[in-house]
Formats: sequence, structure tokens, C-alpha cells
Amino acid sequence: MSQLEPEDPLRRFRDEFVLEGGGPIYLAGNSLGRLPRRAQALMVDVVERQWGERLVRGWGEGWLELSQRISAKIALLIGADADEVAVCDSTSVNLFKLAMAAVTAQAPRREILTDARNFPSDAYVLAGVGPLRVVDDPAREAGAGTALVSLTSTCFRTAENYPIGEMTEAVHAAGAWMLWDLSHSVGAMPIDMHASGAELAVGCTYKYCNGGPGAPAFLYVRRDLQERLRSPLQGWFGHASPFGFSPHYQPGAGVMRFLAGTPPVLSMACVEPGVDLLLEAGMARVREKSIRLGELLVAEADHQLAGFGVALASPKDAQLRGSHVALRHPEAWQLTQSLVADYAVIPDFRAPDLIRFGLAPLYNSFDDVRDAMARLRMVFESKSYERYSTQRSAVT
Ligand SMILES: Cc1ncc(COP(=O)(O)O)c(C=O)c1O
Repeated sequence: MSQLEPEDPLRRFRDEFVLEGGGPIYLAGNSLGRLPRRAQALMVDVVERQWGERLVRGWGEGWLELSQRISAKIALLIGADADEVAVCDSTSVNLFKLAMAAVTAQAPRREILTDARNFPSDAYVLAGVGPLRVVDDPAREAGAGTALVSLTSTCFRTAENYPIGEMTEAVHAAGAWMLWDLSHSVGAMPIDMHASGAELAVGCTYKYCNGGPGAPAFLYVRRDLQERLRSPLQGWFGHASPFGFSPHYQPGAGVMRFLAGTPPVLSMACVEPGVDLLLEAGMARVREKSIRLGELLVAEADHQLAGFGVALASPKDAQLRGSHVALRHPEAWQLTQSLVADYAVIPDFRAPDLIRFGLAPLYNSFDDVRDAMARLRMVFESKSYERYSTQRSAVT
């Protein structure tokens, strides 16, 4: 720990993750979180013993209850009750299921509103559900024909936090329902779905929850609506009696009716250790450190990068920011490549001109932030980024 390292009550959690000694500074936890050691050990057990030895008996030995058990833990992260959350499918698929259910329940209202800052895939999915209007301020523009407003609670580009409660209230005043995508907020800050009053939410587990690449997502359905809503994907796992093999679909009780098919046991199991770590750390402490890391990054960027044409793309006020900081520069793509290849710092790039630095309080240190900004300064000073092509790769 450097002398400048402020007191860090979460310091011990860094050792809970697989960190290559002397390896790169990892600041992309807003895209894909690190591997918890407990998940590594669990995977060995799930593959070798549970699958390898127990085989189909595994369903009776915990696999069937996995979703419910992990859902109850995610509920604690988002201020919901255990029976309002289901871990299943991907964020995109969950968004489709909930948006479709909402629009059907809200008929004759049909219109869906979102804004241009939403994650583009969310807009693609919503446009496949009903007539979608992309507007500047959906909460204000919701009207008599609006069935649903769907937004991402922390912007994937700039990390701007939306005032969840205030916006939900405005949407409700127009008679519309609110669906929040919590992907960039869950595991990064406390969330209170009950206090927000929102009907619906979805979110992913592979970012700040450290669930692993492509880990199953979750959905939230406010309890009072569950019996009214129907999933458009009427699969057997959402059936009242999946193993009754009835020829007719009958929705199961509560939120579990939004399950569709067989859960992906390997990747589902992997979600739990990361969520456990967040619960052990406590979301208030996670948020407090996230804010301190963000403030340090902004201050270091100001100080180290002055004169290089870098602008802060995220809100300056830490309270208005999620857990990444985006810096804007016309050569962001080349800068990112040089940071990764020449200076062992891994942030990520978002077109056309943003470098996002994800701050994951469980494993990122204050030194990570300080060193990353010092190395970015070296990229500028050495002009190492000029050697890189402006041609972008398929995955950024
Ligand atoms: C805000 C947001 N919503 C949705 C998605 C897409 O989720 P998935 O590809 O897991 O369906 C992402 C992916 O990063 C995201 O950031």
C-alpha cells in the first residue's frame, strides 16, 4: 500500500479475487468483473463432482433451487424481496419478457419511451416489443398512450446516474409503467426498488457482481403485479408444474413464471460467490469507496493529463456518477490500445471517443487509479498511441 493510500475498509476483499502478481491494472470491471477465488474453487466442484459424479442426480441436490437461492441474495442488493427477483436468461431476454408483459397488461396503451442514452441493445429489444419513441426526457413526455418507459439507471457511456425515484414518479403520474435496466448500478451502489415504486427491472451479473462472462441476468417484478403479468416465453420452467408435463401451459406462482427453460447450472452457480462478496462488504461501503476512487481519478486526470486535450465525459459531481469515469479524447481508440499493450492498464473504449475506467471497489485500489492516470500521461508523452491503427477491432 502506498503512503498516500487512504484508509480502505474493503482492502481485504482484493485478496478474494484472482489477481496475477504484477499483472495489469484492471479497470474494466464495469464491463466484465474479475474472477472471485471462491468461484474458481466452486467451478471445480460443480464440474468435477456435481456434474462429473452426481450427473442427473444434481437436479435433486440443489440445481433446481439455485435460481431461487441466488435471486434472494440479489434481492438484497436491489432493495427487493426474495420473491420479487428471478435469476435467469440474459438481460436482453429479460427485458423482452418484461416489456412484452407490461405492454400487454397496459393495453390499450401501446407506446414505449426511452432516451438516446440508453444501451442500444435495449432500444433494439424495445422496438421489437411495440412502437418505440426515443425522446430527450421520457419521464416528462409520457402521456395517455404511453404503456411503458424503459431506461438504464446508470448510463453505460458517461456513468450518469438517473434519479430513479423522481423519474418513476413522473412516469406514474402519466399512467405509464417504469422498467429500469440496473446493469451498470447493481453491485456498484445501493439500489432500492421498493422505494422507487417502479414496476419492473432487469440487470446483469457479469459487471460489478463478478458473475463471469455471459453470466445469467436477473429480473424484478413488483409483487402486486406478478399474478397479472404473463411471460411471452411460456417455457416449462415457468410452468406451475414443470414436471407434470401437462400439454397446456399454466403460469407458475409469482415471479418464477418468468423463467423459461433449463437454467445454465455452470454459469448460474458462478454468480453466487460474487454476490456473496458484495453482501459481506455491504453496499454502503462499496458505494463510499467507489465515490472516493472516482474522485481520485477525476483529480488525477485533471492534474496528470492537463494540456493533452482530455475532457471529462462523466458528471463531475460524484453523487451523480456511477462507478466508472469516462474520459473523452479524439484518439481514444489508439490511446486505449497503447494503454493495454504498452502500459498494462486495461480500461475499455466506447465509440466514438470515450475511454471508460471502471472502478470496482472490491478489488481496485487507490494506487490502481493513480498509476493508471500516470501511465496514461506516459502514453501521451511518449506518443506511443500514434503507432496504433485507427481501425477498430470487433470487440471493444
Ligand atoms: C445497460 C445494459 N443493458 C443491457 C446489456 C446487454 O446485456 P446482455 O448482452 O447480457 O443481454 C448491457 C451489456 O453490457 C448493458 O450494459
